[in-house]
Amino acid sequence: MRRAVCPGSFDPVTNGHLDIIGRASRLFDEVIVGVLVNQSKSGLFTVEERIEMLREVTASYGNVRVASFRGLLVDFCRAQRATVLIKGLRAVSDFDYELQMAQMNIGLAGVETLFMPTNPLYSFLSSSLVKDVAKWGGDVTPHVPDVVRDALKARLVPPPP
Ligand code: PNS
Repeated sequence: MRRAVCPGSFDPVTNGHLDIIGRASRLFDEVIVGVLVNQSKSGLFTVEERIEMLREVTASYGNVRVASFRGLLVDFCRAQRATVLIKGLRAVSDFDYELQMAQMNIGLAGVETLFMPTNPLYSFLSSSLVKDVAKWGGDVTPHVPDVVRDALKARLVPPPP
């Protein structure tokens, strides 16, 4: 079985993430979305909330599982019996750090990284940007699934002008 891991923070999942996960799900028998539990950085959403939203929006793919991990990504890959990581590249600016991580991960455990160019529709998109727009009352409907937009609305009350 060909299994790939799509790792990230997903705080929250955006349409850019979903595009990569969906395309990966057509290339592999199974895709495992790995949500990083980062003890040194508290997110807007808890890891459980992120997982719940990811499960809801990936359910229709049929071969996508969502799980959390802490520690090294390559250890998560080993535990999931996956030898490939899928990473989206939005722009050249993503490449420097991604290349370093890919080289480290292959050196650590022989885990390969495949880079997938982001759909140009989403090349400017990031979870941080979406949170900032939502915080100030902007409309994030084109950028995230409806369930995420509603969760952002419920979580973020725009500060007074
Ligand atoms: O969505 P993000 O925050 O850009 O994802 C970053 C992620 C989770 C892919 C990266 O931080 C990671 O792999 N963390 C796990 C710790 C690890 O394995 N570090 C060594 C990487 S070479």
